[in-house]
Amino acid sequence: MTKRYDIAVLPGDGTGPEVVDEGLKVLEAAAQKFDFQLDFTTFNIGGEHYLKTGEVLPETIVAELSARDAIFLGAIGHPDVKPGILEKGILLALRFSLDQYINLRPVKLYEGVSTPLKDKTPDDIDFVVVRENSEGLYAGAGGTLKKGTPDEVAIQESINTRKGVERCIRYAFEYCRKRNKRKKLTLCGKTNVLTFAFDLWERTFNEVAKEYPDIETDYAHVDAICMWMVKNPEWFDVIVTDNMFGDIITDLGAMIQGGMGIAAGGNINPEGVSMFEPIGGSAPKYTGKGIINPLAAISSAQLMLETLGEDSAAAAIEAAVKKTLRDDIKDVGAGKMGFSTSEVGDLVAGYVKNGTGA
Ligand code: IPM
Ligand code: MN
Repeated sequence: MTKRYDIAVLPGDGTGPEVVDEGLKVLEAAAQKFDFQLDFTTFNIGGEHYLKTGEVLPETIVAELSARDAIFLGAIGHPDVKPGILEKGILLALRFSLDQYINLRPVKLYEGVSTPLKDKTPDDIDFVVVRENSEGLYAGAGGTLKKGTPDEVAIQESINTRKGVERCIRYAFEYCRKRNKRKKLTLCGKTNVLTFAFDLWERTFNEVAKEYPDIETDYAHVDAICMWMVKNPEWFDVIVTDNMFGDIITDLGAMIQGGMGIAAGGNINPEGVSMFEPIGGSAPKYTGKGIINPLAAISSAQLMLETLGEDSAAAAIEAAVKKTLRDDIKDVGAGKMGFSTSEVGDLVAGYVKNGTGA
């Protein structure tokens, strides 16, 4: 019997809908070629919907989403909505309520893409960041006292639970083993200053490491990681870190792999419903122009198929993306590709259908 997957689609704001269309085009091509079925249901949430209705994320939608096999998200963020409302109300709310405790962000330089790192090649830049996605500074613990007075106090605490830290670290070890490349896992922390939080992380890391004798382990402070990601990115295979550090180092990662146009990510609940999104945001100034690069969304769709267990289809999408970057696209930046958004989607979908990826 043909396998069938129920996918929720959240096109969202700005260029989100444009890149999602291309992701869906490529997913359809992969489903046809590899003989499985994808049923898409679109939910219109985001800035436009909020401005029209005042609704951010209705409970009924969360319930609908939690009944799907996966979620494919474009972008959330609108220039007319105050910062924080949509990010916290939709993106973080979904990550938390669906307990997507892993944020998986591959940093991979493909042939044909230029990196700002001098003399570095695709052989040097190929690692994955496993970012904890449900705790840390993002948990929202803290508060304000005497707001608006000269004596104002603002407290924002980082929440790190043994359970939360351990499940993230375990995922990272398993991922590193399955990835089967250099088999090296680096813990990124700040044990010299954050002596409570990263003491917990370090002890847990060392304990879990005993169960993975095949994985080499390493530790680096987050500031040093930033330095080495630029100077020696070839040192990394898989990096595991907390929510805030992971947020920061993955923007750096996106830049060294060529830019936001190709940076993909997944918010993963290994036991539940995961959500896949390009990490670049809604890019309002490019909206409706047909010039935004859809490859980040297409690679997020690839991650989605990988997570669903459709490994051959995912590999075909990656091969098609590689070929498009190597042979067709001039530059990954918006408006510089030499092709429109939908032409890039056509190219990738074509290579998937014909099995002619790189
Ligand atoms: C990301 C984004 C989000 C985050 C924002 C929009 C809340 O920067 O996905 O990295 O900080 O996690
Ligand atoms: Mn970010």
